Amino acid sequence: MDRSSFDGLFDMSERTVIVTGGTRGIGLALAEGYVLAGARVVVASRKAEACDQAAEHLRELGGEAIGVPTHLGEVDDLGALVERTVAEFGGVDVLVNNAANPLAQPFGQMTVDALTKSFDVNLRGPVMLVQEALPHLKASEHAAVLNMVSIGAFIFAPMLSIYASMKAAMMSFTRSMAAEFVRDGIRVNALAPGPVDTDMMRKNPQEAIDGMVGGTLLGRLATPDEMVGAALLLTSDAGSYITGQVILVDGGGTPR
Ligand SMILES: NC(=O)c1ccc[n+]([C@@H]2O[C@H](COP(=O)([O-])OP(=O)(O)OC[C@H]3O[C@@H](n4cnc5c(N)ncnc54)[C@H](OP(=O)(O)O)[C@@H]3O)[C@@H](O)[C@H]2O)c1
Repeated sequence: MDRSSFDGLFDMSERTVIVTGGTRGIGLALAEGYVLAGARVVVASRKAEACDQAAEHLRELGGEAIGVPTHLGEVDDLGALVERTVAEFGGVDVLVNNAANPLAQPFGQMTVDALTKSFDVNLRGPVMLVQEALPHLKASEHAAVLNMVSIGAFIFAPMLSIYASMKAAMMSFTRSMAAEFVRDGIRVNALAPGPVDTDMMRKNPQEAIDGMVGGTLLGRLATPDEMVGAALLLTSDAGSYITGQVILVDGGGTPR
C-alpha cells in the first residue's frame, strides 16, 4: 500500500451521500462523519425544520449539505428526494437507508394499521428508495448502499416481532441486491447496531434498556458516533471488497 492509496481509503470527497433519518440519533452522527470525510450530504426526515437545522449544522462543520423533508412511508416523497439530490449535487454515490419506525407491540394487540405502517416505513420505503436511486448509483464509480438493520433480527426480541421481522427482511434484501447489482459496481451491505443511546432507545422503559445493556459484553450503550467507523468502512473505498455483508456493531454478545 502506498501513501496515496492509504490516504484515499476513507476519503469521501466528490461523493454525494443520502442519509435517511439524518436529522438526529445514528443518522445525524453518520451525516457528520460523511461531511468530515469530505462528502456532500443530503439528510432526509419527516420534519422540515429538523432537516433545515441538521443541514445548517453540517454546513457549520465545513461541508456541503442540504435537508429534504421526506416521509419514507410516502412513495412520492422518495423520487422527489432523489430528484432534489441530483438537482443540487449532480448524482447519488451512497444511499444510507437509516430511518425506521420502531414499532413495539405485544402480539395479540397488533393492528393492521400498525403492521402496514411498519412495512411501509421499514421495508417498502428503503426498497423503493434504492430503486429510485438506482440509475444514479449505476452511473457512480463509487456506488454503495448501506441498510441500517438491528440486532433485533438476530436475538429473541419480545414486543418487537414485526420491527425485527422487517429488519430481517432488510438483511435478505441486502444480500439479494448485492448479488443483483454486482455487475453494476454497486456494493450493498448492512450494519446491525446493538443498543445505541438515541431517542429511539430512550423511549424504552429503563428496565428494558438495562436488559439490553446487560446482553452486551461491553456492558454499556453505544454512542451514535460509535456507528460511524463501520458505516464509513462499508461505504468507502476501504470496503471495496466487502459486499452482501451484515456487520454487527453490538458491543459483543449477540448470538449468531
Ligand atoms: N438506537 C438503537 O439502539 C438502535 C438499535 C438497532 C438498530 N437501530 C436502527 O438505527 C436506525 C436509526 O435509529 P435511531 O436510534 O438513530 O433513531 P432515532 O433517534 O429515533 O432517529 C430516527 C430518525 O429517523 C427519522 N424518521 C423517523 N421516521 C421516519 C419516516 N417515516 N420517514 C423519514 N424519516 C423518519 C427521524 O426524524 P423525523 O422524526 O423528523 O422523521 C430521525 O431523524 C434505525 O433504522 C433503527 O432501527 C437503532
